Formats: sequence, C-alpha cells, structure tokens
Amino acid sequence: MKSLCVIGAGYVGLVTGTCFADLGNRVLCLDIDEERIAKLKNGVMPIYEPGLEELVRRNAARGRLSFTTSYREGLAEAEFVFIAVDTPSGLEGEADLRSVRAAARSIAEVMDHPMIIVNKSTVPIGTGDWVADIINRHRHNGVDFSVVSNPEFLREGSAVSDFLNPDRIVLGSLNREAAEKVAQLYLPLRAPIIVTDLRTAEMIKYASNAFLASRISFINEIAAICERLGADVKEVAAGMGYDKRIGPSFLDAGLGFGGSCFPKDVRALAHMAAVHGCHPQLLRAVLEINADQRRSLVQKLRDLLGKLDEQTIGVLGLAFKPNTDDMREAPAVELIHLLQHEGARIKAYDPVAMENARRILTDVVLCQDPYEVAEDADAIVIATEWNEFKHLDLPRIRDAMRRPIMVDGRNIYEPERMAALGFVYRGVGRGYLQPQAIPTVSGRLAGS
Ligand code: UDX
Repeated sequence: MKSLCVIGAGYVGLVTGTCFADLGNRVLCLDIDEERIAKLKNGVMPIYEPGLEELVRRNAARGRLSFTTSYREGLAEAEFVFIAVDTPSGLEGEADLRSVRAAARSIAEVMDHPMIIVNKSTVPIGTGDWVADIINRHRHNGVDFSVVSNPEFLREGSAVSDFLNPDRIVLGSLNREAAEKVAQLYLPLRAPIIVTDLRTAEMIKYASNAFLASRISFINEIAAICERLGADVKEVAAGMGYDKRIGPSFLDAGLGFGGSCFPKDVRALAHMAAVHGCHPQLLRAVLEINADQRRSLVQKLRDLLGKLDEQTIGVLGLAFKPNTDDMREAPAVELIHLLQHEGARIKAYDPVAMENARRILTDVVLCQDPYEVAEDADAIVIATEWNEFKHLDLPRIRDAMRRPIMVDGRNIYEPERMAALGFVYRGVGRGYLQPQAIPTVSGRLAGS
C-alpha cells in the first residue's frame, strides 16, 4: 500500500485520488476550499461525474480515502504528491499558473521527508523545471525530491472509466528512477507506459488536445462547405472514419468544442508558440473556426426568423457536453450571449447543469423540462446532445411552439424525419439545399 496526497479536489484530482484509492493505495485528497472538503467529508460530491460518488463512498468507508485542507496533514505520510490544480486561461490566452505555484510553495514549506512530486495539471512546457526550482528555493532543509510530469487524459462524464482504462500513461522526468516508481502505481491498469523527459511529456498533453480540437474544427469547416454544396457531413464523417488512418472519433460537426480543456489548451499552446517565435497558424484557425460555429448558428436563426429582437428562443442543453454539469466555456453560454445581444428572449433547460446555469446566466428563463422550453418558443436550438433530447415527444414539442423551427447544433435528428413531422429543421452541414439550389459542378466539368 503506497501513500499518496492529491492536491486539488476538482474533476481531475478527485477522480485520480479516488481511483488510486480503489487500486489499493492510501490517498489523502487536499483542497484549500474548505466548503468543498467539508462536503466531501460528508459524502456529498462537489461535482457531477458518473460513478464517482459510489467509488468515493466505498473507499472512504474502507479508510483508504480521506480529505483535508491541511498541507501538513496531507504530506505527513506521502511518498507521492500529485498536483492536480486548475490552470485557467490568463488574459492573453496563456496558462495561469498561480495555483501551481501556490501548491509548489506549500509543498516546500511542509516537506520533511523525500517525496516524488507528480504534476497532473496541464501546464506549459518547462513548468516541471519551474516547480522543481520553486521547491528548491523554498524548502527548509535538504530533503530529496523529484518532479515527474504525468498528464491526465480524462474526459468529463467518463473520467472514472477513462482513469481505469487508459489508452496510455505518459511519464516524464529527468530522474528515470522516480518515473519508474510512479509507473508502478499504474501497473494494475495494464496500459502502455511511455517514459520520457519532462518537457516531452508536457508537450504530449498539449499536442494531443490540440490535435483532437483540430479534428473538430476540420470537420466543422467541411460541414460549412457541405451546407453550401448540398452534401451531408454526417455521412462524409462516417465515410472518412472507415479509413483506419483517420478513424471515426472526434468527427462530429456541431456547435464546436468547449469545456475546461480544449479551448484553454489550444490558446495556451498558441501563446507559447508565439512567445517563442513560432507562427501557430493552424492553432489560430482551429480557434477561429470554433468561434464561428456559434456565430453561424445565430445566422441560421436570423435567416429563418428575420430579426431576433423580441423573439423567444428555447435552448436545450447548457453543459458543454452530455453527462456533465460543467458549463465552463460551454458553447450554449456563448450562444445565449450572442442571442441576447440581438434582443432575443431565452428559455433554457439542461438535465443536470441547472444549478450552475442559475449562477452563470442572467435574464434566462430556466424551465423544468424541454416541453416547458417549447411553450410559445419561436425556435428551439439543440446545444448539447443529451440522450434525453434524442427521445423527445417531437409532436408535443412542435404543437407547443409558436413556430415549429428547430436548429440542431448537434445533429441529433434526421432532416427528413423532422421535415415529415412538420418542423422547419436545420442541422450543421446537413446539405439541406433544395435540388435546384445546388450549385452546378465547378471547374473543368462545368460546361460538359
Ligand atoms: C478533453 C480531452 O478529451 C481529455 O483527454 C483531456 O484531458 C481533457 O479535455 P473533455 O474536455 O472532458 O476532455 O471533453 P471531450 O469529450 O474531449 O470533448 C471536448 C469538446 O469537444 C466538447 O465540447 C464536445 O462537445 C466537443 N466535441 C467532441 C465535438 O464538438 N465534436 C466531436 O466530435 C467530439
């Protein structure tokens, strides 16, 4: 049984700590937020993550998982200290490292025995060296320590199963022995383990997220072209996905990516690149296309409704994706702001993010269910592809609306079926042009 302290009891830290406890380690989860720790001590989850509550309860009951706000208590027995604090976007898109610095300093102040400090937070390349430097400068004695980078690849909504079934574990350190010790913790998961240097490990995380975000912006650009030329992006993506070199995942066109990782990580990588004399054209285009997805949905509503002033728009889905209550950088939030800016009245519903919505949104009528959203709405927008929305009583929705207009920002319905039900329906990249409106073949074939 190894002894671990995990600093930061957010999505990453809490899942990591709880899963390590489940693998048989003794884990103390530390957070400076007293309310969060008090909740956790009482078995109340501060976040919504499927399967987590059960796992926390089980491991807490077995005495393998406990919670604290004290660094002294947290580090007293720890052989491994995981840093899993937030690294939000700063004003210029750079990663804000204040929480990492505070954690490193606090570790240095109470460290009284050798330990391995493992960085899980997504941090700019070079941060591992910087953390080592902070600890060196602030420790009171010559206690030995090593820094290992171990980026997380957990998706919200499936974070527990992602932790327990990883595609790979990435470890980076200047001290190979320390990395090997961290590798031991992961052995029960039987995943490929890549051991490399600190900076390379840090870059693997950014490059992975930026690549996935690029796939999304790529398919969204293809979707925009499909719309103009009468092709169906869903079938295009399916056809592309059979190619083993491409694969089927992360090719869903829609409102674009949001959440606490992709937008901030692409911005941070672009910022890092620019600061170091590179010209990150692709990364900038990825962000620009992503922002366009919200704007082009507003344009679709304008095309269908005319002026949006005084029109009632119902928004289904507020979380940045299904199976989470997280609304950080949620496309729905930006969309609602754009619509409000044009004078639209907004009604909205989300299966689990209503509490967050109450804190974040202003002047939005939050409804009990999708049918209340539909009442007297001039149009409905699907902003998050919750399963619940895939099984709506669509005739009931249509009859409740003032006008049966639906703009599906996640392509969960089929255009033909919606038309048959009497909806004026627009998806993203679904080639809804009338045959006579489809442009003729351009280029050399045009005259043949
Ligand atoms: C992501 C990474 O997947 C994870 O490895 C990393 O460590 C943290 O960031 P997460 O933010 O939870 O995880 O969400 P993810 O499921 O990856 O989706 C990100 C965003 O992309 C969502 O807004 C989602 O709606 C959007 N998306 C995803 C698309 O628009 N199209 C797709 O095909 C896939």
